[in-house]
Amino acid sequence: MSKHVYVGMSADLVHPGHLNILKRAAELGDVTVGLLTDKAIASYKRVPFMTFEQRKVVVENIKGVVQVVPQETLDYAPNLQQLKPDYVVHGDDWREGVQAKTRQRVIDTLAEWGGELVEVPYTKGISSTQLHAAMKDIGTTPEVRLKSLRRMLAAKPLVRFLDIHNALSGLIIENTRVMTDAGPQEFDGMWGSSLTDSTAKGKPDIEAVDVSSRMVTLNEVLEVTTKPIIYDADTGGKPEHFVFTVKTLERLGVSAVIIEDKTGLKKNSLFGTEVDQTQDSIENFCAKIQAGKGAQATRDFMIIARIESLILGKGVDDAVKRAEAFLDAGADGIMIHSREKEPTEVFEFCARYNKLENRKPLVAVPSSYNKVTERELIDNGVNIVIYANQLLRSAYPAMMKTAQSILQHGRSAEVDADMMPIKEILELIPGGK
Ligand code: SPV
Ligand code: MG
Repeated sequence: MSKHVYVGMSADLVHPGHLNILKRAAELGDVTVGLLTDKAIASYKRVPFMTFEQRKVVVENIKGVVQVVPQETLDYAPNLQQLKPDYVVHGDDWREGVQAKTRQRVIDTLAEWGGELVEVPYTKGISSTQLHAAMKDIGTTPEVRLKSLRRMLAAKPLVRFLDIHNALSGLIIENTRVMTDAGPQEFDGMWGSSLTDSTAKGKPDIEAVDVSSRMVTLNEVLEVTTKPIIYDADTGGKPEHFVFTVKTLERLGVSAVIIEDKTGLKKNSLFGTEVDQTQDSIENFCAKIQAGKGAQATRDFMIIARIESLILGKGVDDAVKRAEAFLDAGADGIMIHSREKEPTEVFEFCARYNKLENRKPLVAVPSSYNKVTERELIDNGVNIVIYANQLLRSAYPAMMKTAQSILQHGRSAEVDADMMPIKEILELIPGGK
């Protein structure tokens, strides 16, 4: 009787290294591929380029593969317990680093029935990581980028966005990656903040920077990045104008627009009740959402309705009533905003929102209640966290400090240690030499 062999893989960008592993596996017996689901992959790296179904078709048709089953977690144990294979075959590149624990679990689980781990020498010269980097260099298309937010939302409990105000801030979001105990972390996408875009242009956040000008910033960012963008369209303007914004954003490959339920001269929400701000009527705002939804050309673009009830001191009841109405009008998600120091009110809203039958993704912006953790946001059902202004807020004091130091000392030497070395700035953007 032939032996059973199990191979776990993502198979997003299949390369000779994968084929080598599958060849070795087929020599040992009948191969079952445990194909990692989008959720399993997203738990430790970027959402795959190809969907599960696309990856399945590829793997099913590789010589020697007898069957493909979904592997729902990074941990092999649940599938192994069920299939009790004689062998697991894997590349030998997982002995160290983040995957070492997963490997040990495989060995321990197999030992329960005398199964064995077979490791194939790593194929030099090609790796998924290199291919991913090459894909980034090639870039993306508006269609792929636009769709990527919905795919992320389906695969991850929480997606993380950070403010852009120019191409360089976009590059920081695109490329920053840190290692933590919970694995590698990066931002999932970019928030086209009205506050930071206006501020960078030296204008107040009152819709004074017109849509054309905002699109100039977006285009700059789009040119050098691949991650999804959520665009802050303020009030969206008049419904008759909003439809054009929606069409423009879709054409550019922006994934979502957020409009807030205010009317008249918009002021920044973080002023709260210190300034005159008027909330739009439910009826008018629903009509604006509907106009936007009607203008949309793709199925994937999202119109997210932002509720300002907590900002304006109107309470959770009013916020929930609005959420229900805006979802019924066709909103693809809700953003709840607050300027409290604690997330109590937001979480009260979350609890009630989560019970709505027509519930869609929920966005939170913890600018003032900044001690809240992503874990707490997930536990309260938040799907998108937007760090709305932190990049610009950190850049400005650093630049002010430099300007002041040069004035104080009549030269730049004193502030040199705070700055990036000249060699590094020259090489920061590749292709300059
Ligand atoms: C923005 O970043 O422009 C926002 C969030 O809309 S807030 O500034 O808090 O209103
Ligand atoms: Mg704004």
